[in-house]
Amino acid sequence: MLQKPRGTRDFLPDEMEARRAVEWRLREVARRYGYREVCTPEFEDLELFTMRSGEGIIGEMYVFEDKGGRKMALRPEITAAVIRMYINEAKVAPKPLRWCYYADCFRYERPQKGRYRQFWQFGVELIGADTAIADAEVIMLAADMLDGTGVKYDLKVGHLSFVKNVLQDLEPDARRTIRAQLDKKDYDGLNTTLETMNRPELAETLTSLVACQDLNEAFGIAGAIPERERIEQTIGYLDAANVRYSLNLGIARGLDYYTGIVFEGFADNLGAENQILGGGVYRLAHLFGGDDVASCGFAIGFDRVMVALGETAARKETVAAIVCTKEGRKRALEVARAFRDAGIRTEMDLMERGFGAQIAHAAKSAGFAVIIGEREAASGEVTLKNLQTGEQKTVGLAVAVAEVVASGPRG
Ligand code: HAM
Repeated sequence: MLQKPRGTRDFLPDEMEARRAVEWRLREVARRYGYREVCTPEFEDLELFTMRSGEGIIGEMYVFEDKGGRKMALRPEITAAVIRMYINEAKVAPKPLRWCYYADCFRYERPQKGRYRQFWQFGVELIGADTAIADAEVIMLAADMLDGTGVKYDLKVGHLSFVKNVLQDLEPDARRTIRAQLDKKDYDGLNTTLETMNRPELAETLTSLVACQDLNEAFGIAGAIPERERIEQTIGYLDAANVRYSLNLGIARGLDYYTGIVFEGFADNLGAENQILGGGVYRLAHLFGGDDVASCGFAIGFDRVMVALGETAARKETVAAIVCTKEGRKRALEVARAFRDAGIRTEMDLMERGFGAQIAHAAKSAGFAVIIGEREAASGEVTLKNLQTGEQKTVGLAVAVAEVVASGPRG
């Protein structure tokens, strides 16, 4: 028997309904902030992603050659593609551009719970606003979107300049290694690296920076940082807006295009793969032949949010099952239409089962049975049976529809 590729998933209707419900909650929050949906191709020229994605992601890419000999890649993320689209299609559009997307990405990672080879991101990109209030808006939106899903999380906000300042006289490779170790809180590894470089004194500076929860203190540790005023303003706006976050000045991010504020969200109830959001301020457009436009964005790891929500994401939709005898079938079609017009998910018997078998099937799949026998077909009424309580009554069609509508959530 053939199986799906490793690291991919099939989604049955219950799961798809739960996923769509959460997706729409995210869309709704993005809409309220004015972020409008865009869509880019599932594959792009390989080069788009190799220019500034960072070694980690480059090594995980699904790369193929098309029939024209072009090197292509399935998108491992969507930011680079959105910026390419901005340059191709919307360079002259009034700024800022507020865009969002919900789309799948592909990374050849070792699969485990919360880590897949095909996964979905809900992301936003704010293009062309180089201000503290712009950075703060994106972080506020990130918090509001996560709140909208109901997931419990911690939001960590950092800025690349602090660690960069401390490491400024080191070689780029050494800086990269140290940043990654700090990001992972691998302090043993960090000490070893610093000792082999004869810079053990940096260990204390770096670890106290990562632990630091006070911005003034952090500036004291890291020394003069040119972006100080912008950072203070952004943090000031977050505080004024009551955004729930804590500082982590050790955040490095896995992608190489970030230039300023960076932030990450972590779900409270997930294990190793608990990072459910990542983003920050970045510059990419100039690499793709555009203007050097400032951007800020983030992506939510949608699948991880769904894992964190677990059963709480399940949908409970009211379902009406139309149960009818052969004589009642034509009337049943009219009755079904009335329920559907009222927005109720309504299912007809298509198996030509006997009356008892239809009721038994309805009990497994529906909240209500709407029964149309010979008597009901003649009178124009229906018998409405509540399959939870067993209560049953014969009423006019409009009354039955109103009762099912009033009983709870639909579509
Ligand atoms: P990223 O941190 O690489 O950032 O990915 C964003 C989120 O996608 C992660 O926080 C995680 O929740 C989820 N994710 C990543 N890999 C997997 C996987 N293998 N399986 C399941 N979920 C995964 C970006 O992609 C940037 N483009 C975010 C951004 C947008 N920065 C600026 N704008």
